[in-house]
Amino acid sequence: MITTGNTVLITGGSSGIGLSLAKRFLSLQNTVIITGRDTTRLQQVKNDHPGMVTFAGDLTEQSALDELRLFLEQHHPGLNTLVNNAAVQYNYSFVQEPDILTKIDYEISTNLSAPLKLTGMLLPLLLQNKNSAIINVSSGLFIAPKQSAPVYCATKSAIHSYSKALRYQLENSGVKVFEIIPALVDTPMTAGRGKSKISPDQLTEEFFNDFSKDRFESYIGKTKLLKLIHRISPKLADRMMKNG
Ligand SMILES: NC(=O)c1ccc[n+]([C@@H]2O[C@H](COP(=O)([O-])OP(=O)(O)OC[C@H]3O[C@@H](n4cnc5c(N)ncnc54)[C@H](OP(=O)(O)O)[C@@H]3O)[C@@H](O)[C@H]2O)c1
Repeated sequence: MITTGNTVLITGGSSGIGLSLAKRFLSLQNTVIITGRDTTRLQQVKNDHPGMVTFAGDLTEQSALDELRLFLEQHHPGLNTLVNNAAVQYNYSFVQEPDILTKIDYEISTNLSAPLKLTGMLLPLLLQNKNSAIINVSSGLFIAPKQSAPVYCATKSAIHSYSKALRYQLENSGVKVFEIIPALVDTPMTAGRGKSKISPDQLTEEFFNDFSKDRFESYIGKTKLLKLIHRISPKLADRMMKNG
C-alpha cells in the first residue's frame, strides 16, 4: 500500500492502539479522522495533534453511524482507508454476572456489528477512491480464547473470519482487506492486567512494515509464536491462553 496521501478513518482513535496508528498516519501526511465516545479525550488529542479531525459518537447507535457517513461524504469524500479498531472488553463470569444481557449486547454491538455495518456503509466511498484499504483489528485471542472474556473472544474470532471472507469478496476490486492481530498491548483496555505487554507504537511499527508490503494478516509480537504453537499443538496453545 502507498502509506501517504490517503484519507483515513480510525474508529477508537482517541486511545491506545487507535491513537498510535492515528499519529503514524498523520506523520505520513495522510488526512486522519478519529472517532470515540468521550469528547474531552477527542479534544485532548486534537490539542496535541492539531491536524487530527475528530468525530464523536457511540458506534453502537445507528444514528451515530449515519451521522458519521454523512460527515465523511460531505467533508472527506476522498476516504480510502477504514480502520475498524474501536472495541470494548468485559471480563465476567456467565454464572455470576447480574447484568449479562446488557453486556453481551454492548460488546457484540461495538466489536462486531459496528465494524460490519460501517464497512457496508462506507464501501461505496472506498470503491470509488484509489489505493483503498479496510484494516480490521482482531486479537491473538481468536487463535485460542481466555476464559475470562468469552464474548470478547467470540467477537474477535468473528472479525478474523469476516476479514478473510471480505478479502475474498473484494479481491478483484480496488479495496484491500488487512487484519491486525495484536498480542497483549499496553493500553487502557489492558490496564492492571497481563505481563510483558508491548507498546502501541511497537505494534504500529510492525503493522506498517506489513501494510507497506501488502501482507494482509499482520501477526504482532508474540501472536506469531502463538500461531506456530497452535499449528503444532492446539491443546498447548489453549492451555497457554486459558487463564490469560
Ligand atoms: N490492548 C490489547 O492488548 C489488545 C490486544 C488485542 C487486540 N486489541 C484490540 O485493539 C483495538 C484497540 O484496543 P485498545 O487496547 O487500544 O483499547 P482502548 O485503549 O480502550 O481504546 C478503545 C478505543 O475505542 C473507543 N470506543 C470504545 N467503545 C466505543 C464505542 N461503542 N463507540 C465508539 N468508540 C468506542 C474508545 O474511545 P471512547 O472510550 O472515548 O469511546 C477508544 O478510543 C481493539 O479492537 C481491541 O480489541 C487490543
